[in-house]
Amino acid sequence: MPPSTNKRPIITLENPKSPISESYRMLRSNLDFTSFDNNEKILMVTSSGPSEGKSTTTTNLAIVYAQSDKKVLLIDADLRKPTVHQTFSRSNRSGLSNILVGQTEWKECVQSTGIDNLSIITSGPIPPNPSELLSSKRMGQFVEQVKGEFDVVLFDTPPTLAVTDAQVVATNCSGVILVVDSGKTKKDALVKAKATLDRANARILGVVLNNVSRGKGDSYYYYYYGNK
Ligand SMILES: Nc1ncnc2c1ncn2[C@@H]1O[C@H](COP(=O)(O)OP(=O)(O)OP(=O)(O)O)[C@@H](O)[C@H]1O
Ligand SMILES: [Mg+2]
Repeated sequence: MPPSTNKRPIITLENPKSPISESYRMLRSNLDFTSFDNNEKILMVTSSGPSEGKSTTTTNLAIVYAQSDKKVLLIDADLRKPTVHQTFSRSNRSGLSNILVGQTEWKECVQSTGIDNLSIITSGPIPPNPSELLSSKRMGQFVEQVKGEFDVVLFDTPPTLAVTDAQVVATNCSGVILVVDSGKTKKDALVKAKATLDRANARILGVVLNNVSRGKGDSYYYYYYGNK
């Protein structure tokens, strides 16, 4: 499959001085202030439902980390509706799904992005059994290996309430960032998503409040932090 041409705009690249880009840098700073076990930053971004801004948040957070001279790996663990290959106009011929079935070595799936310090692993072909693959022993081994080679590892995931994928990915992460769409996410959905992640012993580091309208039709990213 040739690289997709359906590229998505990335605000932290295209307009690094905008207030939105600044809010991603603030998110990064706040994450830097949270204590991590062994200084490991294996983070995942999820939300309760679809289209709340998970992939957008993961991408921009990965970029601002890379811009702060951290070696970053962004992994598309949304094996149902992957977008990372489109965002960075890369091939999705081999990626996470191939690694998890044991077809490919993970290092062979790492792709450059043209952005200093930022590498990606795309989803690979969509498998019939994403939850099973993501909860496999190979997934644990894969995370163990990548964390030795990168300062920050970020996973994009599917919605928490629809399928168990995000919950199982959380078991291999040191922290979870929950995206809330200010206009869309219902309170009970958020409470359920948190309960689901709690059951996986996930450490929720913060909530990103996405799509906050600040007049004149502008959408801004906002976030706040709370204790678990
Ligand atoms: N704050 C925002 N302002 C304007 N557009 C946004 C904002 N956040 C996300 N979008 C757009 O909304 C759409 C959905 O966002 P995104 O793909 O990041 O959500 P998602 O939670 O990953 O969705 P999915 O559940 O399908 O994986 C995209 O087209 C994205 O560009
Ligand atoms: Mg997505």
